[in-house]
Amino acid sequence: MQRHSLILAPAFLGALCLTGRPSPGLKDYYKDYFPVGVAVSVRNITGPDTTLILQQFNSLTPENAMKMGPIHPEEGRYNWKDADAIVDFATAHGLRIRGHNLCWHEQTPSWLFKDAQGNDVSKEVLLQRLKDHITTVVNRYKGRIYAWDVVNEAVADNAGPDSTRILRNSPWYRICGDEFIAKAFEYAHAADPQAQLFYNDYNTERPEKRQRIYRLLKQLVDAGVPITGVGIQGHWSIFEPSPDDLRATIDLFSGLGLKVQITELDISVYPWEKERRVLRPGESDAYTPRLQQQQADQYKKVFSVFREYKGRITGLTFWNISDKHTWLDDYPVRGRKNYPLLFDTAGQPKKAYWEVVNF
Ligand code: G3I
Repeated sequence: MQRHSLILAPAFLGALCLTGRPSPGLKDYYKDYFPVGVAVSVRNITGPDTTLILQQFNSLTPENAMKMGPIHPEEGRYNWKDADAIVDFATAHGLRIRGHNLCWHEQTPSWLFKDAQGNDVSKEVLLQRLKDHITTVVNRYKGRIYAWDVVNEAVADNAGPDSTRILRNSPWYRICGDEFIAKAFEYAHAADPQAQLFYNDYNTERPEKRQRIYRLLKQLVDAGVPITGVGIQGHWSIFEPSPDDLRATIDLFSGLGLKVQITELDISVYPWEKERRVLRPGESDAYTPRLQQQQADQYKKVFSVFREYKGRITGLTFWNISDKHTWLDDYPVRGRKNYPLLFDTAGQPKKAYWEVVNF
C-alpha cells in the first residue's frame, strides 16, 4: 500500500516532482481501477483550467453542451460549436468522452413537445423527434464518444399514490408512457452499436428510489433493451451515503449484469435540501476546518467502497473541476457558496484530495 506524502503538495499543479516527471494525478493513482473524468464547459478547456484537467483526468463529460436544448435549439437546427470544441479537445489529448445526455426532462428546447398550435404533439411525433435527435447527435460523434447517458433521471423521486408507478410525470411520460426509455436506447444503439449506453440518475442510494430504479433497469434488461450500464450520479454530501447504502446500490444494479459508473461526483458540505430558498440572515457559508475534515472523511469512505468494486465500477466522473465553480453555488440555496470538490478555489488539492489518493 503506497502512501503519498504531503510533500507533493508544493510540487503540485503540473510542476515536475523530484523524479523530473509531472506530479501524478487522480487518473494515475486510479489507473488500475477506472478512468477518472470531469464535467467541463468550453471555458474550462480554453483557459487556465486545462493544466489541472490534463494532469488529473483522462475522461471528459460536457456539462451542458450536448443537452437537447443547447445542442438542438430549434427543430432542424443544431448548435454543434461547444460540443465539437469539447470533443476536439478531448480527442487531441487522448481523453475519453462520455456523452451527456440524449433524453431528459430538463434543458429541453421549447419546440420539442409542442406542435405549431402550441398543443402537445402526439406520441408518434415525439418519438420520431427523439429518434431524429439521437440519430443525428450520436452519428456525429460515432467512434469518438465511448459512452452515452441515454436517458437521464426518468424515475420519480417519491412514490406516488400508485405504488406500481416508477417514472416521474415528465412530458416524456405524459405523451409517450414508459415506451420512450426503451426507444431512446434502441435509437442510440442503432446509431452507434459500439457505444456503451447508460441510464443515469441521482439519489440512487436512497432505498425507496433505488428500488424503483432497479425495477426500471430490470424491465429494460429483461426486454433485451440495449442498455450497458447505470450511472450513479453521486451528488452526495458530508452526511450521505453510508458505505453500506452505497454497497447495496452497486450490488443491486451490477447484479443485473450492468456496468456501474459514478457519473457526477461531488460532496456538498451542506445537507440535501429539495426546495430552493435564499441564505438566511446569520447563516454561514464558510468552509470551516470542521467541514473540511467531515468532507475528507466522507470522500475517504466512498473511495474505499469504490476500490472494493474494482472491475464493476468502470468509470468515475467529478461534476465540475474545483470549488472555483460548482453547480451547487447558489443551488439550492441562493447566495450560498459550496465547496464540494477535491480542489479549492485556487485549484489546489484539499485535505479530501489526499485522503482519496493515499491508499
Ligand atoms: O447558457 C445560458 C446562458 O446563455 C444564460 O445567460 C444563463 C442565465 O439564464 O443560463 C445559461 O444556461 C444555464 C446552463 O446551466 C449553462 O450555464 C442554465 O440556466 C442552467 O439551468 C444550467 O444548469 C445546469 C443544470 O444541470 C440544468 O439543470 C448546470 O450547469 C449543470 O451542472 C446541471 O447538471 C445536471 C446534470 O446535467 C444532470 N444531473 C444533475 C446535474 C445537476 O443539476
